[in-house]
Amino acid sequence: MLTRVRMLPREHGPRCDCRHERLGVENQYRVSSDRTIPVAGGVVLRPATPNDEALLLEWRNERAAVRYSVTGLPIDAAVHARWLAARLSRPLQRLWIAEESGEPVGQARVDDEGATGIVSISVAPEHRGRGIASQILMALLVEMRADTTVRKLVAMVHPENTASLRAFERARFQNTGELRQGFILLEHPGKDGW
Ligand SMILES: CC(C)(COP(=O)(O)OP(=O)(O)OC[C@H]1O[C@@H](n2cnc3c(N)ncnc32)[C@H](O)[C@@H]1OP(=O)(O)O)[C@@H](O)C(=O)NCCC(=O)NCCS
Repeated sequence: MLTRVRMLPREHGPRCDCRHERLGVENQYRVSSDRTIPVAGGVVLRPATPNDEALLLEWRNERAAVRYSVTGLPIDAAVHARWLAARLSRPLQRLWIAEESGEPVGQARVDDEGATGIVSISVAPEHRGRGIASQILMALLVEMRADTTVRKLVAMVHPENTASLRAFERARFQNTGELRQGFILLEHPGKDGW
């Protein structure tokens, strides 16, 4: 959902390297996702930028990603461009590119629905099966621990997406037994366990 989009001055945009930023009316500090997060094995998560538009579209429209997406359909390039521009203009974009030795290997995102964050992740086809997804999720949990807006993390995973189910389970997400739009709803036990 592209709600609560807000334009910020350039210096507070996605390239800003501040850990915290003051958010006007709410008069409180919230953790910014505008910094590079160490993962493991030389992998880092860096905030996505407009330059990642083509890469993110390629990953989103790759065969397995389409198959296990909610719509089951590829995304149109113009729709994707609008979505990314809106996403990057948010105060907290929560959209990261995983890089290994400077090479992009995957992406992770947390969409907020009130206090609930919906985690989604993908790894470039040529880097799958190396544990990168599990490592990204562990790093994301550490990062989201400091997020004062999102209090609960969930994921919606296609029932046949074994690799994704395993990666989330390894990061201690639990199957709630609930289906949402035919997807398994997984939930993390909570901040105390992060
Ligand atoms: C799902 C996805 C992110 C997993 O990335 P990955 O880096 O290959 O995952 P990992 O290497 O961390 O493996 C996670 C677990 O799945 C297992 N696994 C990996 N590939 C698998 C496969 N093809 N079939 C079954 N299990 C598999 C691994 O053995 C591992 O389990 P383990 O910890 O018990 O050994 C990746 O396959 C992907 O990008 N898929 C397309 C997009 C997608 O489906 N995203 C998820 C939407 S929420």
